[in-house]
Amino acid sequence: MTLLKIALMGRPVLRRKAAPIDDPTDPAVAVLARDMIETMDDAGGVGLAGPQIHADRRIIVFRAPAERLAAGEEEPPEGVTVLVNPVVEPLDDMMALGLEGCLSIPGLRGLVPRHDRIRYSGTGLDGGRIEREATGFHARVVQHEVDHLDGILYLDRMDGMETLAFDSELHHLLEQEESTDDD
Ligand code: NI
Repeated sequence: MTLLKIALMGRPVLRRKAAPIDDPTDPAVAVLARDMIETMDDAGGVGLAGPQIHADRRIIVFRAPAERLAAGEEEPPEGVTVLVNPVVEPLDDMMALGLEGCLSIPGLRGLVPRHDRIRYSGTGLDGGRIEREATGFHARVVQHEVDHLDGILYLDRMDGMETLAFDSELHHLLEQEESTDDD
C-alpha cells in the first residue's frame, strides 16, 4: 500500500493548470491511480485530483456513494471512477448549493454553488472513453475534482466566506440554513 503526501493549500501545484496525460493506458498511470485511490480512502475523502498529490497531471479519482443520493437522482456509478483528461459540461443554468470540504484544506467546510446537472467525459485506464450525465452530489464531486486540474479551489467558487466553517462548528451553520429555508 502506497500512501501519497497530500498537498495542502499554499502549495503552488494546487494553483497551476495541470498537464494532459498523453497515454492513459501507460502502466505508470494505473499505478498513480491506484495510489491515489488508497490515499483518498485512507484520508476519508470522496475524491482526489492529481495536483493534490503533487502530480501535475490531469487525472481524478472519486466515489459518488449511493447513500448521498437525493430523491429522484440517477444512480451514480458503483465504486471508484478513474478519469483521465476529464471534461465537464453543464447541461443547464441551474445551480445548487451544497457543503464541500477538501483534503487540501483540512478541517473546513463551506457552501458552494455548483451546476446541478452536468455531462462529463474522459478516458479510463483501459483507454476507453467514459461519458456520463450526473446530478446532485455526483455532479458536485466531479466539478470539485476537475476544478483542481485548473488550479481552482472550492473557496474560489463560494459566494462569500460567511458560510465557511470549521467542521466542529458546522452545526451552527446548518441550523442557520434550516431556519432561513422557510421563505
Ligand atoms: Ni479538493
